[in-house]
Amino acid sequence: MQKFKTLDDMNLGGKTVLVRVDFNVPMTSKGEIKEDTRIKAHLKTITYLSKAGAKIVLMSHLGNAEQSLQPVAERLTSLLKKPVTFIDECVGKKVQVAIKELSKSSILLLENTRFNAGEKTNDEAFAKELASLCDIYVNDAFATAHRKHASTYGVAKFSKEKCAGFLLEHELKTLHEILSNPQKPFVVITGGAKVSTKLGALKALAKKADTLLIGGAMSNTFLKAMNVEIGKSRFEEDMLDEALNIIQIASAHNCKIILPSDVKTAVKLERDTKCENPGINSINPEHQAFDIGKNTANVWAEIIKDAGTVLWNGPAGVFEVPPFDAGTRATAKAVGDTKAFTVIGGGDSIHAAALCGITEKVDYISTGGGSLLQFIEGVPLPAIEALYK
Ligand code: 3PG
Repeated sequence: MQKFKTLDDMNLGGKTVLVRVDFNVPMTSKGEIKEDTRIKAHLKTITYLSKAGAKIVLMSHLGNAEQSLQPVAERLTSLLKKPVTFIDECVGKKVQVAIKELSKSSILLLENTRFNAGEKTNDEAFAKELASLCDIYVNDAFATAHRKHASTYGVAKFSKEKCAGFLLEHELKTLHEILSNPQKPFVVITGGAKVSTKLGALKALAKKADTLLIGGAMSNTFLKAMNVEIGKSRFEEDMLDEALNIIQIASAHNCKIILPSDVKTAVKLERDTKCENPGINSINPEHQAFDIGKNTANVWAEIIKDAGTVLWNGPAGVFEVPPFDAGTRATAKAVGDTKAFTVIGGGDSIHAAALCGITEKVDYISTGGGSLLQFIEGVPLPAIEALYK
């Protein structure tokens, strides 16, 4: 299955190794790191390179073009317990000098690659400049593998040698195993805001899963498509037919779709607001649904308890705003308690799992969001292709 080289195939001692990582972590408005799962996920690759005596140059994006990676260099320094030098550019003279001065096993983190206009356009000159910085290019960024950018795609073409890092290799192997041979029953929990962003993945999962638990605002679109009166709840008008299509695909593949039988509603989304928990056929016409209801959460918990494999991508409700966190908290508890092999993917679900304290209980946390959905859909990831093309 694996067509690319890995770190085990490389002679790393004394070589300058440029590693594409994904340090795109949630940040506060003050520039503090909220949650560092993605940083920790790369420690194995970085430590290995350091022990092998490579000169390590790390590059990543963070948000779009507005945030500096400097706080990440500080967090990395404390996680690795060794200094990580930060440089406020990602190409150019200053970077070349800094790399020249690097000693074996030391680490340099470049500034946000998206500060350069050529990153997202996969500009050839920028990709060549990046490639010229190193002897070996390593891609360890599964979470950005769906992006055809200069630092994920173009750079591979111009690098002398290239391979996958441990995280990328591990993500692909684990996800492939789970999707091709899941322990049954295979239960998928999905939610979040939109059907449209997960359409391809939902169709693929409707063919593979035994049960699909659908919550979040996404479930409003499914309920609306089935002519349920959902009051003023948000839904996607142009996804109603697609929702029915997914229901049909699921039924043709013996996949049971479980939509909410009750929901938590309020007039407005406000912290600690007065809310109701109506059955799905008695939603107040002036209300909006912001979470699955208590009964639905109980039904989900029973199904999760008896699963063989559980894949969770997307929260059950607006978990940042209590009381609409209850459905996601109940889901997290059920995922933490089940004996099934559990997998979580997507920034929101990882964040929710961390808030609910179940991270340590989950068998596998994928760093991927969009890339995970694309992988599930079976659409090739350009940054992976670039490693063997
Ligand atoms: C992600 O968070 O899914 C990856 O880091 C990719 O980020 P992007 O959606 O901004 O390209």
